[in-house]
Amino acid sequence: MPRKIIIDTDPGQDDAAAIFLALASPETLEVLGITTVAGNVPLPLTQKNARIVCDWAGKPDTKVFAGCDAPMKRPLVTAEHVHGKTGLDGPDPLPAPVMPLQDQHAVDFIIDTLRAEPAGTVTLCTLGPLTNIGTAFSRAPDIIERVQEIVMMGGAYFEVGNITPAAEFNIYVDPDAADIVFRSERPLTVMPLDVTHKALTTKPRVEAMRSLGTPAGTAMAEMLDFFERFDVEKYGSEGAPLHDPCVIAYLLQPDLFTGRHVNVQIETQSELTLGMTVADYWGVTDHKPNAMFMQDINADAFFNLLTERLARL
Ligand code: RIB
Ligand code: CA
Repeated sequence: MPRKIIIDTDPGQDDAAAIFLALASPETLEVLGITTVAGNVPLPLTQKNARIVCDWAGKPDTKVFAGCDAPMKRPLVTAEHVHGKTGLDGPDPLPAPVMPLQDQHAVDFIIDTLRAEPAGTVTLCTLGPLTNIGTAFSRAPDIIERVQEIVMMGGAYFEVGNITPAAEFNIYVDPDAADIVFRSERPLTVMPLDVTHKALTTKPRVEAMRSLGTPAGTAMAEMLDFFERFDVEKYGSEGAPLHDPCVIAYLLQPDLFTGRHVNVQIETQSELTLGMTVADYWGVTDHKPNAMFMQDINADAFFNLLTERLARL
């Protein structure tokens, strides 16, 4: 029986890789819907980009919803400097979406789906700021205990921040929503920068995708050609960290990852460290562990999985 998931996302080239990976794995994952949120770029673009990715994947029946266009309490911060003006810079020209956007608001879809599906059978896979999830949990607290698991890309500990010295982008954009999620007491698996920075899009890995010669493979390689320039220059690394597909890969092959179950709290007040994921990695407090905080990945096997699944689309 495939695992039912909702993907909450702000595409984003790395979000696109995660969506491809999920849609290419129907024997393991049933994508109930893709809910989009403002993040890397504003909501009108993230919802459009999610639809373009579903078109490239050849999955036009996927349900895509538009969600929150701003964080719960703070002004929106975007990342065009990383993802480009469109959020999916790379393929030129970027096609217009063909598949439709659902009329229902993403938050209502999340609430209705969690109420309709049997309790404990829906996993939330979050790839962007947690605004949609935090809003849904606030508006309908009854759905929280019905969530099977939350698997998210966000946060950092040893790797520290990428948008500020202290914070990772997804958490920083909406720390209040993140605080709600980390306090939800639901099973929580986190892919922080500590692990995603070990999944680098080296040239051989990108060329393996390009050589598939398929719409998804070609689009993915062209997106990564663009996406990597920022991180290569910033970190001097060979390739860029492919953050978001780590979330989906965990559901497909959890043994690719290792981490530690620790207490993680979110800084929501200090302007200096706003959005910091304060992980008690060494157990120096008596705070109850609330997150499986991943630290390591088998990067070769991860990229082999991603490329093998891309070939299916
Ligand atoms: O910090 C990396 C995260 O922020 C990724 O999810 C990327 O897509 C952006 O949303
Ligand atoms: Ca993202």
